[in-house]
Amino acid sequence: MQHQRVLVLDFGGQYNQLIARRVRDLKVYCDLKPCDMTAEEIRAYDPIGIIFTGGPNSVYDAASPHIDRQILELGIPVLGICYGCQLIAYTLGGKVEHAAASEYGKREFSFVKDSPLSADIPETSVCWMSHTDHVTQVPAGFAVLASTPSCPVTVYGSLEKKIYGVQFHPEVVHSQYGNKLLENFLYNVCGAAGDWTMGNFVAEQVEKLREKIGGRKVLCAMSGGVDSAVAATLVHRAVGENLVCVFVDHGLLRKGEAEEVMSVFRDRLGMNLICADAGERFLQKLAGVSDPERKRKIIGAEFIKVFEIEAKKIGAVDFLVQGTIYPDVIESGKDKSAVIKSHHNVGGLPSVVDFKEIVEPLRDLFKDEVRRVGTELGLPESVVQRQPFPGPGLAIRIMGEVTREKLQTLRDADYIFREEVAKAGLAGQIWQYFAVITNSKTVGVQGDFRTYENVIALRAVTSVDAMTADWARIPYDVLEKVSNRITNEVPHANRIVYDITSKPPATIEWE
Ligand code: XMP
Repeated sequence: MQHQRVLVLDFGGQYNQLIARRVRDLKVYCDLKPCDMTAEEIRAYDPIGIIFTGGPNSVYDAASPHIDRQILELGIPVLGICYGCQLIAYTLGGKVEHAAASEYGKREFSFVKDSPLSADIPETSVCWMSHTDHVTQVPAGFAVLASTPSCPVTVYGSLEKKIYGVQFHPEVVHSQYGNKLLENFLYNVCGAAGDWTMGNFVAEQVEKLREKIGGRKVLCAMSGGVDSAVAATLVHRAVGENLVCVFVDHGLLRKGEAEEVMSVFRDRLGMNLICADAGERFLQKLAGVSDPERKRKIIGAEFIKVFEIEAKKIGAVDFLVQGTIYPDVIESGKDKSAVIKSHHNVGGLPSVVDFKEIVEPLRDLFKDEVRRVGTELGLPESVVQRQPFPGPGLAIRIMGEVTREKLQTLRDADYIFREEVAKAGLAGQIWQYFAVITNSKTVGVQGDFRTYENVIALRAVTSVDAMTADWARIPYDVLEKVSNRITNEVPHANRIVYDITSKPPATIEWE
């Protein structure tokens, strides 16, 4: 069964992925596509509705993206947001002008006429604006539906043509009823059935994978991360024994993680999972190395070597599973097939595996959808909600040389920090939180004795995409508990510091 689809045409605004995520959250599948799609391509795609996103341009610049008028004559409902709203007016003969002053932030707006878009939204509410141009005259056959004192055409539309424009951004949380407006467009205007649920996705995908793979052989590299875990579980549900997973344990995972991978995927789910226990090998290669970039390169190269040894034992396979997700697909440009992830853990794998085709069962999903699919498949919260963790693992959280003793100290300290953050109910609000073992030792006093031991740093950040980050304001009493526990319970740690640097200028990881 093919689910209904909405097309989100991307005019370059900063909230475009957010629009797509909102639509998906409202249980309607959508794709974010470049704004130069032709009317013919759109007809062939067969969406139940089209959304034009915002964008940084002015419709009067010759260089800004415009649309073929025919798109508005296909009989498919359209919602234009911000630039998209201006573009519809401009294309259909309305008027768009530079406002005297740009409008940014929260504004009160009022509906002046009822429409399917305004159902269950109070007459006056708060919206979030970010624009300089605005529509001053609607095209013939369209009506003004809502206004603010400074933006007379805040919402306009034609009930008959099912085409609407909104000047504000319904997708951002500051627009009080923005989500309701999107829901109204999808359900009252496009006639959505709400058939995009993770349960449906799993059922559809399992069927597709079965059809595609049949009785042939599939190989998957599991890293312990969310994407590869969910991709493998989905493929396993479809083809069972025909999937072989290889988990390279480089000995640089956090406390309990390697054991958890084996117990969840091999013991509980019954996957054909091979663990390459390579910790010793990695430690030997890393001996005497303190330069962060060299550590990364050694680990990346070694990972591929170990995987190659396992892949050779398995022999030729038909398919290689990759945990590519939708943001990778969009970012790789214009929906061409995704670049193999640059993540060093998997980036070099295709060259050492004898396979015919790549399978990417998650390539249509946003990260939060991947997590929901994981839950749907019965994976534990600890796997599904796992924080981002770097491929080189704890090696880049140990300043200087990686040694067995430092690994032990860091694992134990990190575990305590994670445990206390979770106990305080803060885990969901923090992007990443972990311990680092610094390259300094300081003097301390424990019992009646002088100690000379490691300084452990705690790092916790909030972020939306890891591009920028702020240090998390963890309450002092939680930090105090962590500090007390680490210095009491973990050997070779006598001082704890908290990192209060944002990114930039610092990075999230210390190396
Ligand atoms: P930074 O430290 O650059 O990290 O602010 C941004 C995000 O990327 C993760 N990270 C890595 N992930 N291999 C990875 O797979 C790496 O070498 C690597 N270095 C950093 C980091 O944990 C954060 O989420």
